[in-house]
Amino acid sequence: MLKEMYEQPKTVTDTLMPRIKDGDIVIDELNMSDEEIKAIRKIFIVACGSAYHTGVTAKYVIEGLARIPVEVDVASEFRYRNPILEEGTMVIVISQSGETADTLAALRESQKLGHKVLGIVNVVGSSIAREADNVMYTWAGPEIAVATTKAYSAQLIALYLLAMKFAKVRGKLDETTFQELLEDLKRLPAQIEMLLSNKERIQRFANRYVGAKDVFFIGRGIDYAISMEGSLKLKEISYIHSEAYPAGELKHGTISLIEEGSLIIALATQPKLYQKTISNMTEVRSRGAKVMAITFESNKLMEKAADYVIYIPETDPYFANSLAIIPLQLLAYYIAIGKGCDVDKPRNLAKSVTVE
Ligand code: AGP
Repeated sequence: MLKEMYEQPKTVTDTLMPRIKDGDIVIDELNMSDEEIKAIRKIFIVACGSAYHTGVTAKYVIEGLARIPVEVDVASEFRYRNPILEEGTMVIVISQSGETADTLAALRESQKLGHKVLGIVNVVGSSIAREADNVMYTWAGPEIAVATTKAYSAQLIALYLLAMKFAKVRGKLDETTFQELLEDLKRLPAQIEMLLSNKERIQRFANRYVGAKDVFFIGRGIDYAISMEGSLKLKEISYIHSEAYPAGELKHGTISLIEEGSLIIALATQPKLYQKTISNMTEVRSRGAKVMAITFESNKLMEKAADYVIYIPETDPYFANSLAIIPLQLLAYYIAIGKGCDVDKPRNLAKSVTVE
């Protein structure tokens, strides 16, 4: 798992760079004309686990940039709820292995309903890659560790590229902003490298929480999507119970669980929501919780609002997941190692869930 975490700068580069040509995004494997892209009226993203979390992230990015309505669903729900796929709906399934039974079933259900499916897949020639109408590969290479890291990061890149391509073709993104976003994307590999090399602070923090019993990850918008993946990483390799919560939802029940010493990981990478997230952090700290905040280097508001702050380098907030997830992967890894867990083959888990 550690080896694959450190391959993330490369998998991001390998997924990104072949699709940037002469200052434009070229996704030939999409097989869609500009007219077909303009005709999209809704996007359905279907996946499981961490792949689902990249889908939730993509909802915010695609809706924010391309203004196309996006619905995201876990494949095990989608396949049995007789989904309503109207005219002009594009279905995207995301899968590292390309063999996840529920996701494959969702693909087949969509095609049965007469809709073309784009597969975002890591394993070349896998079932989903073969049955999807079009495939956009994530060039992460073979991912062996059960807990996905490098494929997750590559999936995010594929989804950012789709969002920007759709936005530009549909006239929602001016050339200046488009080029600025491209530059932000190109900076991600080096920024990930830097975060991976600064692991000592995370390691020290992890050592203090090896004995944690419940950990809550909170965030708003894309920060909520990041929280979901941070929470899954922790629980699947350290066996510590954790939950991801929309920060604004805490007061509707879950805050009753917060007590002296509870650990809260607050994601704060969306400047428009900083103040709201800070008020949620204050809510939990006033009930005795310890808060670690993950935010941009430019955001000095967190020094007072959190007990511990992990800074990530500046990028466009739409791409924050690609950077904020790195300290969360490291946190989960070092807590799990501290507990003596087998991070590569966690109990009860398989790398690919090929059965229902
Ligand atoms: C993530 O760390 C897990 N291994 C799991 O949630 C995984 O993302 C999920 O089973 C989907 O797998 P897939 O991407 O191969 O379809």
